[in-house]
Amino acid sequence: MKILLFGKDGQVGWELQRSLAPLGELVALDSHSRELCGDFTCLDGIAQTVQAIAPDVIVNAAAYTAVDKAESEPERVRTINALAPAMLAQETRKLGAWLVHYSTDYVFDGSGSKPRVESDPTGPLNVYGSTKVESEAAILASGCHHLIFRTSWVFGPRGGNFARSMLRLAQEREKLTVIDDQIGAPTGADLLADITAHAIRTALQQRGVSGLYHVVAAGETSWYGYACFVLDLARQTGLRLKVAPENVCPVPTSAFPLPAQRPKNSRLETRKLQNTFDLSLPPWQTGVARMLTEVLEKPL
Ligand SMILES: NC(=O)c1ccc[n+]([C@@H]2O[C@H](COP(=O)([O-])OP(=O)(O)OC[C@H]3O[C@@H](n4cnc5c(N)ncnc54)[C@H](OP(=O)(O)O)[C@@H]3O)[C@@H](O)[C@H]2O)c1
Repeated sequence: MKILLFGKDGQVGWELQRSLAPLGELVALDSHSRELCGDFTCLDGIAQTVQAIAPDVIVNAAAYTAVDKAESEPERVRTINALAPAMLAQETRKLGAWLVHYSTDYVFDGSGSKPRVESDPTGPLNVYGSTKVESEAAILASGCHHLIFRTSWVFGPRGGNFARSMLRLAQEREKLTVIDDQIGAPTGADLLADITAHAIRTALQQRGVSGLYHVVAAGETSWYGYACFVLDLARQTGLRLKVAPENVCPVPTSAFPLPAQRPKNSRLETRKLQNTFDLSLPPWQTGVARMLTEVLEKPL
């Protein structure tokens, strides 16, 4: 089997390089790749890459993920997040291959408090979410075999992430304020990558599993709850923090005005994924604790 991976150095792409390697021949690209084009702003180049490799499976982990910056350059975001995946879907269809694509809880408007199911109406609040809705629609319309995984609050040990920022700020400041009215599930890039590999194996045996799935770790929390969990764990491992536990303060979203509006309810129902692929999803705390162990072993 030949797999073509785009966005190889992002949080999810990095973990996919590990989890996809045992499945077959893996060609992994990023936007700077030289011999083959992996730059999603160059749509013709992307199509030529797919035609040159003729993979059995394309995995798209590339995306414009800077949610606030996206508000000021919507055309670029649309090209990367919607037009390039649409091009991949067309090429995938011509090959009779599979396309794996990632989407987001930001396709929803965040109203209410129930977990969203896959068929619930979308209603994105920002440019990033709108382009992700467009990508989903283009993939569905193309008629290619696909696995679209909507996920939320992704973290990995590489690069900057929320937990790492909290640890740094807690060492610098005596008081921290953290949003407590956005609810979701922190989900590890490693978990997403492992589920992707498992789902690809199933999909190649059973074409009927083609579709859209919600994939998040089990349970829910707010950013405030997430921060408290991270800082408690750090204290238990002996890290010296300037901030005392009682000085980590919950605040509403309105306390941090940002260019892009975020959904307050990011809960995603994952029963469809668990039933279709015979998987169970671990609690979010398991993945965060594991990532923290890796992060705390290195200098911050
Ligand atoms: N992060 C989250 O919390 C979250 C939540 C829900 C869904 N998702 C979705 O999950 C998927 C993976 O996200 P992630 O967290 O791994 O994101 P990430 O760490 O920001 O990685 C995104 C990757 O896309 C690449 N990229 C950006 N512009 C590109 C371009 N013009 N051409 C080709 N590649 C480009 C980046 O590479 P360069 O910067 O080197 O170009 C980077 O490697 C995305 O579809 C994202 O929308 C993420």
